[in-house]
Amino acid sequence: MNPILELQGISLSFGGLAVLRDVSLDVLHQGITALIGPNGAGKTALLNCIGGIYRPGAGRILYQGQDLVGRPPGEIAHLGIARSFQNLELFPTLTVTENLLVARDRRFRGAWPGGVLAAAAFFGSVRRREIAEREAVERVIDFFELWPVRQVRAHDLPYGQQKIVGFARAMAMEPALLLLDEPGSGLTRDEKEDLARFLLRLRHDWKISILWIEHDLQMVMDLAERVHALHLGQRIASGTPEEVRRVPAVIEAYIGEESLPSAPPRDAPPEPLRRRG
Ligand SMILES: Nc1ncnc2c1ncn2[C@@H]1O[C@H](COP(=O)(O)OP(=O)(O)OP(=O)(O)O)[C@@H](O)[C@H]1O
Ligand SMILES: [Mg+2]
Repeated sequence: MNPILELQGISLSFGGLAVLRDVSLDVLHQGITALIGPNGAGKTALLNCIGGIYRPGAGRILYQGQDLVGRPPGEIAHLGIARSFQNLELFPTLTVTENLLVARDRRFRGAWPGGVLAAAAFFGSVRRREIAEREAVERVIDFFELWPVRQVRAHDLPYGQQKIVGFARAMAMEPALLLLDEPGSGLTRDEKEDLARFLLRLRHDWKISILWIEHDLQMVMDLAERVHALHLGQRIASGTPEEVRRVPAVIEAYIGEESLPSAPPRDAPPEPLRRRG
């Protein structure tokens, strides 16, 4: 299967400091592709290039055959690419439901008749649109098991739940490609198991393509089908989890961290598939 996204020779620098150097990698179509690497490797910078927040100095980012370089973030969102952020970027005083509705409005604005005059002229269709929007958000709330907190303001939720809402907000945009920047950081063990279940179901049931930055290497070994490792702005390895953990440059980059975990046997169901409780 062709990759959904292909980065070719991406370079990025800030004031002469090279942050990404000639990075080429691909993202599986309807699969889970993980991006790993020590702090400062350039993982978030790479996501920012894909999302149009940073413009690489060289290279191409091919999404379903089109080059994304130079397109503004809004246009990239319209093409079906959504992301969650490493640092929470929810609207703190809006409820969970409202945060998701706002995300959909950003994604689909312009696709429907809008504005005050149009609303007056097309009242019926606008009303139907509003109902459809709420139903779409409710499906996402169901999926992420956020029903009990849907009316709670984002800043009143515990940190782990806010991270899940950030993930849900990206999914409310109905992306074909989802970019996740460390959705697992700061989560408890139980919350990480929930996260793993959501990732697997999105991949298997919703057929989403996922590029997932993650520091928890055990989770990566359990869930990812393809892994790319970055170090000091360069790609140092690509392959299956089992292949990547054996690459000397990867082991070298992680020296000082815990020993690299191994991948489970591929015929056994990954641990997080088992539902808790
Ligand atoms: N806007 C910017 N201006 C200057 N330097 C930047 C900017 N954004 C990122 N950098 C630098 O680029 C390098 C890579 O940063 P990045 O945030 O991509 O790392 P990361 O792999 O996501 O690390 P972490 O695991 O800690 O999140 C760092 O040295 C960082 O200081
Ligand atoms: Mg980062």
